[in-house]
Amino acid sequence: MTDTPTISAPKTSALMARGAAFLGTEHAILCGAMSWVSERNLVAAISNAGGFGVIACGAMTPALLDAEIAGTKALTAKPFGVNLITMHPQLFELIAVCEKHRVGHVVLAGGIPPKGSVEAIKAFDAKVIVFAPTIALAKKLFRSGADALVIEGSEAGGHIGPVSTSVLAQEFLPVLAEEHLVFVAGGIGRGEAMAAYLEMGAAGVQLGTRFACASESIAHPAFKQAFFRANARDAIASVQVDPRLPVIPVRALRNKGTEAFTAKQIEVAQLLDAGTVDMAAAQLEIEHFWAGALRRAVVDGDVERGSVMAGQSVGMVTREEPVADIIAQLLAESEAALGQR
Ligand SMILES: Cc1cc2nc3c(=O)[nH]c(=O)nc-3n(C[C@H](O)[C@H](O)[C@H](O)COP(=O)(O)O)c2cc1C
Repeated sequence: MTDTPTISAPKTSALMARGAAFLGTEHAILCGAMSWVSERNLVAAISNAGGFGVIACGAMTPALLDAEIAGTKALTAKPFGVNLITMHPQLFELIAVCEKHRVGHVVLAGGIPPKGSVEAIKAFDAKVIVFAPTIALAKKLFRSGADALVIEGSEAGGHIGPVSTSVLAQEFLPVLAEEHLVFVAGGIGRGEAMAAYLEMGAAGVQLGTRFACASESIAHPAFKQAFFRANARDAIASVQVDPRLPVIPVRALRNKGTEAFTAKQIEVAQLLDAGTVDMAAAQLEIEHFWAGALRRAVVDGDVERGSVMAGQSVGMVTREEPVADIIAQLLAESEAALGQR
């Protein structure tokens, strides 16, 4: 277990104070859950460096999540969270695993939290972090007990909404940030951007792309090389080919895998036409496609046919660096920007 010395960034720390107190960390910087990437090593490294690591449960079984949480606890004594996908068929068993380990923060991602899920998490005194694409839904989730919100713009890697971070921040922060904790995600590659969102009232920030290739990340070397070579324009959003099949767009590096996804959608749309599958099954098939394709890229290093999910900030990721160095850079850049104001 390694602890990095406290970094002095007083102006940034003052703006992050609410978020850091909520997370129980030194800095209100979350590393967003990334399926296959956010496992024990990266999560513990982020938390040990004063940020907030989040385990990506993805499609894990309760037994696998149990082992991952235990493995993470062996590497850090600092707080970390667990990201659960709301459509997981064993969501409540996964929540029970979090309860067993007394996980302090659970992030519910991928859709509106199903009935009883927020209550089940709060029952063991854990904090609930949610996503919401509209202010109305955000308010509803806060009323139902959510403790914090992440707004994530379309610049982000992975599954995305249609609106950019800069617009979401302008819409949500003035309305919600005084009363509630709102973290901003999507397209943050440097500390200057972090400082700007903090000044607008954000409690903290969430980054994924910037941390995916840290030295402590177990992503395959070929996956990391693909990141280092890529520019912002290479991280493209998937295209929906059939208006009847609402596919949540995914931002990933352009390759044969992104083409295969187009073909997959046509195939699933044909199954819908033929009545072989219903809409729920069709959408689940699409999600399984992504999970498999991401694994192929992250774990097997097949960056041609796998899905190299990456945000537009990928152009700012040019080499492998320890998590602590990335956090130190973000803080120094933020502090310098705030100093000039
Ligand atoms: C490779 C990759 C995998 C991701 N997987 C997930 C996931 O499983 N669950 C989730 O809620 N978000 C996922 N995300 C989104 C991140 O948690 C984070 O919100 C996002 O990366 C922030 O935007 P940025 O990429 O511009 O920094 C993923 C992002 C990437 C790059």
